[in-house]
Amino acid sequence: MLARFLVHLLLTGKVFMQVSTEISAVGESVILPCLQQDLDTNVFWRHKGSAKVINIMKGKEVTEGQSEIFKDRIQTFPSEYSKGNYSIKLSDVEYAHEGTYSCFIVESNTEKKIDLVVNEKTVRPTKTATMEKSPQAPFSEENSSAEGQPPKVLMLQITVLGLALLLM
Ligand SMILES: *[C@@H]1O[C@H](CO)[C@@H](O)[C@H](O)[C@H]1NC(C)=O
Ligand SMILES: *[C@@H]1O[C@H](CO)[C@@H](O)[C@H](O)[C@H]1NC(C)=O
Repeated sequence: MLARFLVHLLLTGKVFMQVSTEISAVGESVILPCLQQDLDTNVFWRHKGSAKVINIMKGKEVTEGQSEIFKDRIQTFPSEYSKGNYSIKLSDVEYAHEGTYSCFIVESNTEKKIDLVVNEKTVRPTKTATMEKSPQAPFSEENSSAEGQPPKVLMLQITVLGLALLLM
């Protein structure tokens, strides 16, 4: 590991900082973080070593030569630059966006790596909740018995609902 690091340093002259992992899902958006201390630096974002994501040069976005898969999907945060925050937001994530991103900070000749893992499209949370709950509901399987004891069940549900509302 150390040997690889030294070889990389010798070959490229770049210093790695840390590697972090971000997880997103198809159709979602994700912030790829890049924080550093040097203010007023130029920053080059790359994907898989070479594909151009975006450059931030003299506080301006440069999208010239940007890889097609990032077109209209990258947002930078100019108001954060002065805090050394060169994070970017990737929208409408696809599997093609998976892989390692590097945020190269020109001034200090350092590079941060961010691994992006893309999961399959997430199910809407509300649907998931009801789908998970219904099989556990006590009377849902036998419709006749559920109908046979409406007052008790109804009372219980109202109480639970009332408690939930109170807690909100
Ligand atoms: C950097 O900026 C992004 C986008 O506004 C924000 O989500 C993130 O929290 C910021 N990071 C820090 C450490 O301020
Ligand atoms: C539930 O109701 C349906 C239609 O009313 C009936 O066909 C079915 O047999 C019932 N199931 C049970 C477990 O009673």
